[in-house]
Amino acid sequence: MSVQKNSPVIGTDRIPIHVGIIMDGNGRWARRRNQIRTQGHLEGLKAAKRVVKAASDMGIRYLTLYTFSTENWKRTAEEVGFIMGLVKKHLRGELDFYRENRLRLRHAGDAEGLPPDIAAEIREACGDTRSFGGMQVILALNYGGRDEIVRAVNRLKAENAGRITGKDLAKYLDNPDIPDPDLIIRTAGEMRTSNFLLWESAYAELYVSDKLWPDWTEEDLREAITDFQKRDRRFGGIKTGSDT
Ligand code: FPP
Repeated sequence: MSVQKNSPVIGTDRIPIHVGIIMDGNGRWARRRNQIRTQGHLEGLKAAKRVVKAASDMGIRYLTLYTFSTENWKRTAEEVGFIMGLVKKHLRGELDFYRENRLRLRHAGDAEGLPPDIAAEIREACGDTRSFGGMQVILALNYGGRDEIVRAVNRLKAENAGRITGKDLAKYLDNPDIPDPDLIIRTAGEMRTSNFLLWESAYAELYVSDKLWPDWTEEDLREAITDFQKRDRRFGGIKTGSDT
């Protein structure tokens, strides 16, 4: 891993296991340059690739990218079509990138609500990378935290009678084997989590960056991780040795 001049050097002891990113600001990035919004998504995809590689090099085990939410269907048909096309092209054309870095692709979200060709592409890419033991990249596509919980409850209800626990419900989420995120990053300055990993982020640390997503680099990820390493995580308990 290359360490740039003046960049904080991250300790290797407290690397978050699972990081989720709300990649926001593609539209603003384009507007500031008098370009159309879709240009921002194109640059956003380049940033995603940079950050995936950097996260993998830093030893993060799971990276969830909020790529398209259940609410994003409200955008124009042109923009929705462009993003779906971009995802498809990425999955088709970048298999070598995943293979070289031993990255395993996974999906979170409602696959049944996706256009059939996109759902098929995701299924195939997930299958092709299934055996790779490196970082897992979870594409949250047609994903909403509330929708995930509702789908989980419906599956659980169909298979279980009687009183249920949180542990029972968690087994029916989209990727029950993946540990909860330690860190949720949001770019472009907005202070909200916008229906991202609602159940799973109960004890995640939040990090908000003012930078727009297409401008994000390895350096920005490193700063976020360094900030995370200074946090005192108590998970609702108290600090050992604390007398207050
Ligand atoms: C938000 O910016 C970003 C999205 C809706 C996600 C689109 C992301 C990509 C195309 C890049 C990643 C793709 C893959 C395959 C990993 P916005 O449009 O809401 O920005 P704005 O708030 O400035 O308008």
